[in-house]
This record gives sequence, structure tokens and C-alpha cells, in this order.
Amino acid sequence: MTSIPTPESGVDLWIWSLDPDMASLQRYESLLSTEERRRAGRFVFPILAQRFIAAHGRMREILGGFLQQDPRTLGFLTNAYGKPELIEGQVHFSLSHSGDLAALAVAAFPLGVDIEIMRPVSRDLPERYFSVVEREGLHDLPDDPWRDAFFRCWTRKEAVIKALGLGLSFPLSDFDVAFLADAPVALTRLAGAPSAASQWQLHHIDVSSDCVGAIAAARTGWTVTRHS
Ligand SMILES: CC(C)(COP(=O)(O)OP(=O)(O)OC[C@H]1O[C@@H](n2cnc3c(N)ncnc32)[C@H](O)[C@@H]1OP(=O)(O)O)[C@@H](O)C(=O)NCCC(=O)NCCS
Repeated sequence: MTSIPTPESGVDLWIWSLDPDMASLQRYESLLSTEERRRAGRFVFPILAQRFIAAHGRMREILGGFLQQDPRTLGFLTNAYGKPELIEGQVHFSLSHSGDLAALAVAAFPLGVDIEIMRPVSRDLPERYFSVVEREGLHDLPDDPWRDAFFRCWTRKEAVIKALGLGLSFPLSDFDVAFLADAPVALTRLAGAPSAASQWQLHHIDVSSDCVGAIAAARTGWTVTRHS
């Protein structure tokens, strides 16, 4: 049983498989809105439709638990940049999916979560997505630690972007995150906000040996409680 989060209750985190058994999938589908069913129906590959249903159905189930409300009756809005929010307002959340996994972070304050299954990526990618400081930090790493550091950086940046709620309209070069193995998990610069480094908190998520994630929020002092 969950209840409305308070600033003191920190962040609740769920990570679940998007390939559930048929009975769970049918239950999740029964919880979706007409619009969510329409979105699921647009996927060309059935596996992607099923994963969308498993992500959004389970998310409704968890958020309904917080609000002690029938999951089917939850209403969502999206801001001008696509960030979904509950109409009810007291509960903030962020959803992420990668491959067959989803993560949902819930708190009393705005936050962002991102998970990524680590896959081989080109060493050119940081040029497109990362800041100068981040690119320099990655540059000399050998391939294996480079891949892990790349995905720590990627998920931390995505978590910050999702917490800000401005989508990719906020330039990815306008902030730095720390991501080297021995560095504290942190936002170290945010353009136009000189105090940001002391006002933001980031949290690393170890999902599995090939999947990492991060949570970010523009406030400090929270801890993460992980649920299954
Ligand atoms: C849409 C975006 C917020 C996240 O995309 P993503 O990492 O590919 O996908 P995730 O699975 O982690 O997150 C998707 C969920 O975020 C939420 N979301 C969508 N727009 C959002 C926004 N502007 N702010 C916060 N959350 C948002 C939704 O719940 C969405 O789930 P849904 O599509 O099932 O409804 C955005 O950052 C994006 O387009 N990223 C593209 C990848 C990129 O270039 N990243 C640079 C990394 S350094």
C-alpha cells in the first residue's frame, strides 16, 4: 500500500519487465485510456505495442496506488514540451523505458528518471550530445570503461532534461554532469543558474550488468526507495 508522497518521503522507484505474462498484459490493457490504446495501436511491431501497454498499464497501477484511486480514472496532461503530468497534481512522476525494461520514479516534487540498456555505440556520439567538459572527460578512456561512462553520462543528462520538463529545447551543452567512476554523482553546471550544482541532486541506478539509469531533481536531501 502506498500513499501520497511528501517531500520527506523521498523518491520511490519501480523497475519492471515489459514482457509480462498474458494475464498481466490483459490486466494492463484494461487500465488504459482510449488515447493510450490508440497510441499502442500505432506501433507496427506487436512487441512494441505490448511493451507500451505493459509500461503504461503498470504505471497507472502504481500511480493509482499512490492516489488510492482506480487506475482507469487517472487523468494526464502534457506540458508544451511533452512532459506528462497527473491532473491530480500532488504526485510527480517520471517514466523511462529501454528494451524490455521500464522505470517509474515518483515523488512530491518534479523529477526525471532515465534507464538505458547499454549497447555498442560509436565514439563520435558525444560530439552530438555532450558538453565540452563531458567530451573531455570521456576522451581518453579505453573502450570498455568508455561505454559504461558514456551511458552514465547519457542517463544523467536525460534525467536532468526530464526533470526540467523542457525536452530537447534545453540545449544538452548547457549543463554538465559528473560521470567518471570515482566522481560523486552530480550536476556540476547549469547555464544561467550559478547555484544549481548545490541545488540539484542526482542518483545512479544499477539496474543490471548491462543496464544503468539515473534520477535527477532540483532539490537535495532525498533518498530512493526501490520497489519490485
Ligand atoms: C522524450 C525525452 C524526454 C526522453 O526520451 P527517451 O530517453 O528516448 O525515452 P524514455 O523512455 O527515457 O522516456 C520516455 C517517457 O518520458 C516521458 N516524457 C516525454 N516527453 C517528456 C518531457 N519533455 N519531459 C519529461 N518526460 C517526458 C513520457 O512518459 C515518455 O513515455 P511514453 O513515450 O511512453 O509516453 C527526450 O529527452 C528525448 O527526446 N530524448 C531523445 C534522446 C536524446 O537525444 N537524448 C540525449 C541524451 S544526452
